[in-house]
Amino acid sequence: MDTLRDTLSERQRAMLAEMGIRTHWLPRAKARLAKEKGPCQPDAAAPEARAAAPVLPPPAAARAEAAPAGPKAPARTPGTPEAPGTPEAPGTPEAPKAPARPEAPAASAQAVADMDWPALQTAVAQCQACGLCETRRQTVFGAGARQARWMVVGEAPGEQEDRQGQPFVGPAGKLLDAMLAAMGLSRHADDAIDALEKRAGQAGQGGQAGGPPAEGVYIANVLKCRPPANRNPQPDEVARCEPYLRRQVALVQPQVILAMGRFAVQSLLQTSEPIGRLRGRAHQYAGVPVIVTYHPSYLLRNPPDKARAWQDLCLALQVMREQTQP
Ligand code: URA
Repeated sequence: MDTLRDTLSERQRAMLAEMGIRTHWLPRAKARLAKEKGPCQPDAAAPEARAAAPVLPPPAAARAEAAPAGPKAPARTPGTPEAPGTPEAPGTPEAPKAPARPEAPAASAQAVADMDWPALQTAVAQCQACGLCETRRQTVFGAGARQARWMVVGEAPGEQEDRQGQPFVGPAGKLLDAMLAAMGLSRHADDAIDALEKRAGQAGQGGQAGGPPAEGVYIANVLKCRPPANRNPQPDEVARCEPYLRRQVALVQPQVILAMGRFAVQSLLQTSEPIGRLRGRAHQYAGVPVIVTYHPSYLLRNPPDKARAWQDLCLALQVMREQTQP
């Protein structure tokens, strides 16, 4: 019986090595995802006409009360540690809620929902909707290709991100970039359409040494401001920031979202289920398939789980293929 590790190409082995994945970590079970095109072949399909803007679920303000159960521990090491399939410990006290800031200027969720990119970026830069504006150095809006088929959603800026104004620039960012590279993606690559056209062109010419050009991805966080001392995002902060992420998704119109870590998952899917219970199938946010996986910071602390993360990335690639070649 073929195993995932048996069916890896040389290129994939190299990419997995870049992610720090040892192939002996990969599961012995027959690779469910390696059926048609080999394991996790990045999709080189021609671009599809982009669907109309997805229908968005009700704005966060209306759901703030129903926000997912808050973080269980006051301090955050970014990327919530979580044993796969392990439910969260019951009865742990919830982090205190941020005080309401009725006087704080914040664009209304409806106004945000109508913004274009420049207006949205300005609104985020000027946001004072929660107390994080008092401790941030600067906001971290997002980065990457704004016309991307792929979107990554992380948690919140850490210290380096707060200093540089860019998402995922610390060690977790390095791992994220390696994970994206293993999928044929890059935050520095062209917008999806350009990249796919280049890929298609290369395929016609029999390819090129070094592999096809990477496809762009857009990266955003649930929170646009760093929580002090990297503590967990609080439900109130998540709810107040959510219209910005919602609008980013609506503007990018991704075809697959990778939700990395507990807070991304909780915010997008409005669930308190642990990641281990949500992996392995596609969920939906605003009409876009969402694949749940571990946060790179968590993976840095739990390297053997990189093999599970790789499975999640393979699932995401499969879902993307199904989106573009139904
Ligand atoms: N972790 C995140 O979730 N986002 C960042 O931007 C950096 C670390």
